[in-house]
Amino acid sequence: PAKDIIGVLFRAGKMATINDPLDENDLLDIGMELGVDVTIKRAETVEDVISAQLALPDEELGDIQPRPPIITVLGHVDHGKTTLVDKIRSANVAKGEAGGITQHIAAYQVDHNGHKLTFVDTPGHAAFGEMRARGANVTDIVVLVVAADDGVMPQTVECIAHARAAGAPIVVAMNKIDLPGANEQKVLTDLANQNLLPVEWGGDTEVVRVSALNGTGLDNLLETLLVTAELKELKAPTDAPADGVCLEAFRDEGRGPVAWIIVRRGTLRVGDLVLCGPSFGFIRAMYNDRDEEISEAPPATPVRVAGLNAVPNAGDTFLVLADDDIDIAREVAETRQVRGRTELLSRRGGPRTLEEFLSK
Ligand code: GTP
Ligand code: MG
Repeated sequence: PAKDIIGVLFRAGKMATINDPLDENDLLDIGMELGVDVTIKRAETVEDVISAQLALPDEELGDIQPRPPIITVLGHVDHGKTTLVDKIRSANVAKGEAGGITQHIAAYQVDHNGHKLTFVDTPGHAAFGEMRARGANVTDIVVLVVAADDGVMPQTVECIAHARAAGAPIVVAMNKIDLPGANEQKVLTDLANQNLLPVEWGGDTEVVRVSALNGTGLDNLLETLLVTAELKELKAPTDAPADGVCLEAFRDEGRGPVAWIIVRRGTLRVGDLVLCGPSFGFIRAMYNDRDEEISEAPPATPVRVAGLNAVPNAGDTFLVLADDDIDIAREVAETRQVRGRTELLSRRGGPRTLEEFLSK
């Protein structure tokens, strides 16, 4: 009876009425006091269902096929990450197309001797850490860029830690070997000091000399990456409803919210209902990394999508839902929007009074 429960709480110094919610500890205490076995069951929320779907093992999602590796490029500021990915890309897309690339993109896919590789150029190691923290990590291999004239720097050390925490093998691209100040021995020593013993010193860390600027060593780097990927035997279900991660998103003047996403598994199709962080919508149009319109994107493909109702955040996971689940998608997206705004306000210290609020 309620009065017994209120009595137990009262004796424990807690004033409660019949309408008060009780927390788990209170419930267990009450059970003990009254000699009743208490079993706590949680209501399954839509978020629970979504997390469960994202956590489904590949085997439960139908036909599994080999997929390209997703390679994230990390390294200290200015060591040449963007130059490296741009160079690999321009050398590996058909002539004429490369010239047309104007906008900066977060990810792209190249074809090397008939094998596809997907590269992700991170804006910084912090973004990578953030994605990993949110369980949105899609990286199979990390290319650690170390400038030969600078060696291992503080952010390089952080990148190594991130790669290790993500369980991703590290391939080192020793960059800027064209510079007179390049000191290969120092880089090798620095790496060894971080427990990345180079293969040439009897360890198992591949260190590939490159010059992102003039293209030296890039074929070698791609070969090393393909061998590393082969060892991992990367596979993904191809027929399942797609899921993956948003790498970058923005509002386009003409097209509305646009998101660069990478498909982790399944195949994303135009017309699919997507829930991505605090946004949702039917995919209206999809473009590949060369700005060509495409209708479907298999695993490990980076694509730009239009059709979401709002701009998601980098690192948000996305998921395709059944068309009938549009109301669920809207509800979850709206709940996440509200939660996102509340978090943002509390992080900023938030307006506290109505007066403060109105003056903002
Ligand atoms: P952040 O994104 O700011 O962390 O920098 P990043 O690592 O992407 O470096 P970025 O590619 O922007 O290169 C930084 C500078 O190094 C640029 O001026 C490049 O031209 C130069 N650079 C990159 N690779 C090489 C190289 O192989 N040789 C030489 N000499 N310069 C290079
Ligand atoms: Mg860069």
